[in-house]
Amino acid sequence: MRNQFVLSEANDIVKVKKAGIKQITIDISKGLDVDKPDSTSTVVTARTSTAKPDKKITSNPDIDHRLQSSKKLVAKASQIAKKILGDVSAGHEVDMEATESTVSQITQMIDKDPHTLVGVSRIKTKDEYTFMHCVSVCALMTAFAQYLGYSKEEIDEISTGALLHDIGKALTPLEILNKPGKLTDEEFVIMKQHAVTRETKLLDNCGLSEKALDVVSMHHERPDGKGYPLGLKGDELTEVGKMSAIVDIYDALTSVRVYKSAWEPSEALKNMLSWCPHQLDTALTQKFIKMLGVYPVGSLVLLKSGLVGIVIEPGEKMLRPVLKIIYNANGRHYVEVKQMDLSKYPKESIKQPISPSSYKIEMAKFI
Ligand SMILES: [Fe+2]
Repeated sequence: MRNQFVLSEANDIVKVKKAGIKQITIDISKGLDVDKPDSTSTVVTARTSTAKPDKKITSNPDIDHRLQSSKKLVAKASQIAKKILGDVSAGHEVDMEATESTVSQITQMIDKDPHTLVGVSRIKTKDEYTFMHCVSVCALMTAFAQYLGYSKEEIDEISTGALLHDIGKALTPLEILNKPGKLTDEEFVIMKQHAVTRETKLLDNCGLSEKALDVVSMHHERPDGKGYPLGLKGDELTEVGKMSAIVDIYDALTSVRVYKSAWEPSEALKNMLSWCPHQLDTALTQKFIKMLGVYPVGSLVLLKSGLVGIVIEPGEKMLRPVLKIIYNANGRHYVEVKQMDLSKYPKESIKQPISPSSYKIEMAKFI
């Protein structure tokens, strides 16, 4: 048998099995994937990891359940964000009923667990970036507002503004919005017009609160006055406005785009700190970093043993999160997916966070 070949009929699978092949990788660019892929379906492997648990470890079904619920909510909310933007670009009003219902589901989930939804919504597919970014910014803003002690009512308002923060993109030409490369100066001028002000007609019938309007109109403003659309500076920016700029940049940096790979969270946060106080508010950026923790959910980390895992739960000890082990960097091969609670593996430790692109790992397939 050759190393790579197309399976064109069911009998081919029988032949593969008879030939004793224990491991296959499905290249879904060549054809259909299996019907209902679960997180492990694109990589079927007979190899197992070499890490030895220090005691018997069982995977925590509660974490898996939360990951799956978050994933479902992100998918559903992204479709609603897509519909809302589609409606507005077709000249209709913002569907506030759909907005409020989505916000309510997101705030409820963040209230129960502030980490999982935030981590899951960061993992995006390139094509749906615009809509998934709305959902991710909504989840992050909700968690940030909760962390800073805002009231439930205020959190609802902030969350609503966050889901609609890029509503102006409904009027941005698609060739600019989805351009697979750097924008020219002229295109960037048009792109910047998506950042609407309080006076824009788009928001006339939305009945948005002041805090929601702060998110929508200030997420591209900067403390030094070099932001847009109005170039507000210093005290002209509200706390919520400054929070929205931090969240918006963090999500954009750590997301995969058509023209760039996703930055690893700690690299993004380090850069963001270096942009303080001109581009971002220093005190709020520090609080944001504290909220996310050392290894935010959704980060990819390399362990001392060479295993690679995705952080799926911060864990009780900040440096020893719960991981989903997916890869062996020494052998450069995938391994049987399994949970590893690092607090129960004292001999194992995190060597460093890594970027998914360094091992060509498609995060969306594993979380
Ligand atoms: Fe924006």
